[in-house]
Amino acid sequence: MTTKRTLGRSGIEVSPLGFGCWAIGGEWQSADGQPLGWGKVDDEETVRAVRRALDLGVTFFDTADVYGTGHSETVLGRALGKRRDDVVLATKWGNVFDPDTRTLTGGDDTTEYARRALTASLRRLGTDHIDLYQFHLSDADPARGAELRDLCEELVGEGLIRAYAWSTDDPDRAAVFAEGPHCTAVQHALNVLQDAPQLLEMCERMGLASINRSPLAMGLLAGRRSGPLEAGDIRSRPPAWMQGYDGDGADDDWVARVDALRDVLTSGGRTVAQGALAWIWARSPRTVPIPGFRSVAQAEQNAGAIEKGPLTAGQLAEIDRVLGR
Ligand SMILES: NC(=O)c1ccc[n+]([C@@H]2O[C@H](COP(=O)([O-])OP(=O)(O)OC[C@H]3O[C@@H](n4cnc5c(N)ncnc54)[C@H](OP(=O)(O)O)[C@@H]3O)[C@@H](O)[C@H]2O)c1
Repeated sequence: MTTKRTLGRSGIEVSPLGFGCWAIGGEWQSADGQPLGWGKVDDEETVRAVRRALDLGVTFFDTADVYGTGHSETVLGRALGKRRDDVVLATKWGNVFDPDTRTLTGGDDTTEYARRALTASLRRLGTDHIDLYQFHLSDADPARGAELRDLCEELVGEGLIRAYAWSTDDPDRAAVFAEGPHCTAVQHALNVLQDAPQLLEMCERMGLASINRSPLAMGLLAGRRSGPLEAGDIRSRPPAWMQGYDGDGADDDWVARVDALRDVLTSGGRTVAQGALAWIWARSPRTVPIPGFRSVAQAEQNAGAIEKGPLTAGQLAEIDRVLGR
């Protein structure tokens, strides 16, 4: 497989997969105590994993200011160090948080807040520009989205960001951002169990990259089965929007569907996780999955999917047949 994909209209080249940096932020929670992180993390292992990913050719990293209430950006900036210019950095804004209590306190969709948030992200990441700046409030008012799109054009003109995107599963909201010439992507959920045909069609039509969050169905497509989850792990007390987990761990129906796909996903010597990434690449040449990670072993396995390439059209059809879609 080619070792690069292009981020939509921007012409910015990235490795075919990026690394998702939510889990490496560590523990944080909502005001009412809902865990929003993925449990405890070891920062030294994170640094080793990021550097291993760089050595394996990964050049795209997706984080957000709110992951670990700033900690994900800080540890990512530290891990990249002098190699910052070797990578394309994506982060997000819109959520408001208190780093002292590691708590999400709300959201802010004003242009004033966006400028303040950008300054803070630049400081934590140790850089003078963000390559892809993403609006994190997926359901925000589209009229407010239009104001933020225009602000992002100003930020591009000032050299503070290179391109921008809305992280949303709603094609209408993504289209509001897409009217801006430097909007280059939409970040949305996509994995072999959760297709997104409308958004993929829109990316094709508008020339946007499709950046894919939850490509491993929050670990389900990487071997996460029923069983205890750490108390600080969001999957231990899944919020209403989260699919695939109930209060007792992985949902039986989802596990059964992963089992039904095992043979086709593990073709060509792939692991299930590598097969899940291969499905995304085969689904559209515009896709860039961003699997989460928290160890060198996960980094190596996920980066190892690149050389095995996409599934074939026949395998995609077989998957649709097995899932009855
Ligand atoms: N609204 C938004 O903008 C939004 C929302 C969600 C995510 N995202 C972005 O998308 C990224 C990825 O999505 P996601 O965090 O939902 O989950 P995901 O990529 O579907 O799953 C990641 C999890 O799977 C497990 N895993 C990963 N590689 C593995 C491997 N090779 N073997 C075994 N287990 C493995 C790890 O958790 P365990 O080891 O603990 O099982 C990891 O944290 C995030 O990091 C974030 O950057 C954005």
